[in-house]
Amino acid sequence: IDRYVVIGNPIAHSKSPEIHAQFAAQTGQRIDYQRLLAPLDGFAATVQAFIEAGGKGANVTVPFKLDAFALATRLTDRAQAAGAVNTLRFDGAAIIGDNTDGVGLVADLVRNASCPIAGKRVLLLGAGGAARGVLLPLLQQQPSDIVIANRTPLKAQQLAQQFAGHGVVKACAFDALAGRFDIVINATAASLQAQLPPIRADIFGAGALGYDMMYGQTATVFMEFATRHGAVARDGLGMLVEQAAEAFLFWRGVRPDTAPVFTALRRALA
Ligand code: ATR
Repeated sequence: IDRYVVIGNPIAHSKSPEIHAQFAAQTGQRIDYQRLLAPLDGFAATVQAFIEAGGKGANVTVPFKLDAFALATRLTDRAQAAGAVNTLRFDGAAIIGDNTDGVGLVADLVRNASCPIAGKRVLLLGAGGAARGVLLPLLQQQPSDIVIANRTPLKAQQLAQQFAGHGVVKACAFDALAGRFDIVINATAASLQAQLPPIRADIFGAGALGYDMMYGQTATVFMEFATRHGAVARDGLGMLVEQAAEAFLFWRGVRPDTAPVFTALRRALA
């Protein structure tokens, strides 16, 4: 039986084992998937020990996505662009690093929220790892443009510059935001502290989608703000399930049906 883990610190809260167990049952793939706590200074050693024990792959979560990027001997294009790795596959001596966060977000928007990105105006709030991780897959959908707004404008400018070769991407400070957007994605960590990035209420165009990468039992302050100003709000639970499905595909070559898994997770959250 092939063994997989999700590595993080802390890790007890991770929903990935439940998600992958459902994917395995559904597709008839025989895998064992566990949580693995790594010491903060011991990510590489933990991975090496798991490889020696016969491990086939790993998901990587906070705070190790940069360590996983550094450890990989080969990177997919989207992991290279993201500058971070959330999925590892062990293949002989090779450690292949992928990043499925961005394609997971795109799948949740396009398939689950019926919100195509092509031709749309997209506003990305935040310029940290979460924002960088999703930019390439978003741009590959060919939105009309993506504006990155961040508390520290320099970081938004650097990101916009880095991705300029992949589409129309601009940077902006929060207080200089103008115009309306079809899709507004909150990739800041503000929701964790129940805070809202300082955005104007009129950034939401008619029928806009306000998407928070966070999720929880209740709507985030960003989702409440979006709803109050005429947008449809969506949390990041679908992105969680879709990035997992893309990791499962990367390892096993089959993409599971995410809908029943999403429904079960939502029910368990309530
Ligand atoms: P992550 O990997 O989750 O993106 P990060 O790299 O620390 O974490 O980035 C956090 C992001 O949330 C940044 O864009 C940060 O803005 P700064 O670059 O100016 O630090 C943003 N952020 C965090 N708390 C915020 C808040 N209360 N309001 C607005 N933006 C916030």
